[in-house]
Amino acid sequence: MKNNQVVDNINVLIVDDSPESVELIKRNLQSKGYQIYTASNVQSAIKLMGSVAIDLLITDLKMPGENGIELVRHTSENYKGVGILVITGFPSIQGAIESIKIGAEEYLVKSFTDEELFAAVGRVLKKSRKPAAGTDKLASQNFGIIGRSDEMKKVFNTINKAKSTNATVLIFGESGTGKELVARALHYGGNVSAAPFVPVNCGGLPDSLLESELFGYVRGAFTGATETRAGFFQTADGGTIFLDEISNTSLAMQAKLLRVLQDKEFYMVGSKKTLKVNVRVVAATNVDLMQLVKKGLFREDLYYRLNIISIDLPPLRDRGEDILELIEFFLEKYVLELGKPPMRFTAKAIQALCEYKWPGNVRELQNLVHRLVIMSEDSTINIPDLPESFRFSGKRTRGLDRKLEDVEREYIEDALAANKNNISKTAISLGIDRKTLRDKLKKTKPSD
Ligand SMILES: Nc1ncnc2c1ncn2[C@@H]1O[C@H](COP(=O)(O)OP(=O)(O)OP(=O)(O)O)[C@@H](O)[C@H]1O
Ligand SMILES: [Mg+2]
Repeated sequence: MKNNQVVDNINVLIVDDSPESVELIKRNLQSKGYQIYTASNVQSAIKLMGSVAIDLLITDLKMPGENGIELVRHTSENYKGVGILVITGFPSIQGAIESIKIGAEEYLVKSFTDEELFAAVGRVLKKSRKPAAGTDKLASQNFGIIGRSDEMKKVFNTINKAKSTNATVLIFGESGTGKELVARALHYGGNVSAAPFVPVNCGGLPDSLLESELFGYVRGAFTGATETRAGFFQTADGGTIFLDEISNTSLAMQAKLLRVLQDKEFYMVGSKKTLKVNVRVVAATNVDLMQLVKKGLFREDLYYRLNIISIDLPPLRDRGEDILELIEFFLEKYVLELGKPPMRFTAKAIQALCEYKWPGNVRELQNLVHRLVIMSEDSTINIPDLPESFRFSGKRTRGLDRKLEDVEREYIEDALAANKNNISKTAISLGIDRKTLRDKLKKTKPSD
């Protein structure tokens, strides 16, 4: 079943026990013209490789039955020209590193973006000397970060200047504004992109656990430390560590981080020997660190160390021009992913989306468009399809300089639109009877 022949003759085998994961990668790669085969376990993958000439293997590591590592080994021993890309959840990152040693070209840590997938596929195929699809377009697309507002242009500009340096970057922005996306862009757009990008959430873990996650521990360091284990700083050596929610670290942890930043040195838990690493640090926060510094909750010296380059991601409500572009981007993405016929938003629906305050920023918008594409039964998305909070647009909240009857007319118009112009339903939703509504309509003559 070959559709959309952009890349001819490149056979990709995706092996993962999660059907959703398989489906997502499959659709993405199919859209670029790759020929896709799938298997849900190692045994059937090995069988399939015996009968189809696979060019690229994309495999998960943790699966019921035989581990993906076995498949990597089998492939690199028996099929020399096959590119191998390993995908892994965070807990098995050590396994991913292991898989590189035995022949995988690259690994991707879930959850990666579409762009990272395309770029990784491109690199793996290049290494195994096959042309890749879609990677040129990628480079020109600002690392898959959408936005044309002046604020975002500033962000792209800073990313471009900072990406190939070793300078520490502090990213500030409300929840869902794209901080992690920017951190990934700094890594994958720079010259250490072949080395690991290791994201660490600094919030929520008790100090002792965070310490052993970050710096690793030696055997016997504490009860249960039955073997020596590398930490994230070691894993990220040569690449980038992304310290997310840095504001949640304790003062004691901040002192340890300062030491790594200043001297590039640290101790594994339970060891007295200093270790050296070469890691680029990118940190993110959704609270103003300077305020924490003033309150004595964040070390000033660490703040300045982190803030060599700063990137401020403005909230979505302050970059109206980006909303439209993001809507189009996510609409196309999900229509494609879900195999739906083309869809569009009506002008009124777009207006309502543009007037909304977006407390959850881009993530909220992305989730909304995803849900609408799933739920929508026809090809247009209109006001009534939107959640309650969008249906009565933000117009009502704007200032006190309007006449009461204008406010009422707009309110009625919105209610009518939300109820598909059904008078009875609109009357019920407004808490008035039909006759009163008719009278008001006569008086106010709503347009549309
Ligand atoms: N400018 C953008 N273009 C395309 N997608 C974006 C953009 N900004 C954010 N996203 C998407 O929105 C979601 C949230 O982004 P991300 O995880 O980077 O935000 P965050 O600032 O790290 O959020 P949090 O503070 O909650 O951790 C992701 O799925 C990301 O891909
Ligand atoms: Mg984040």
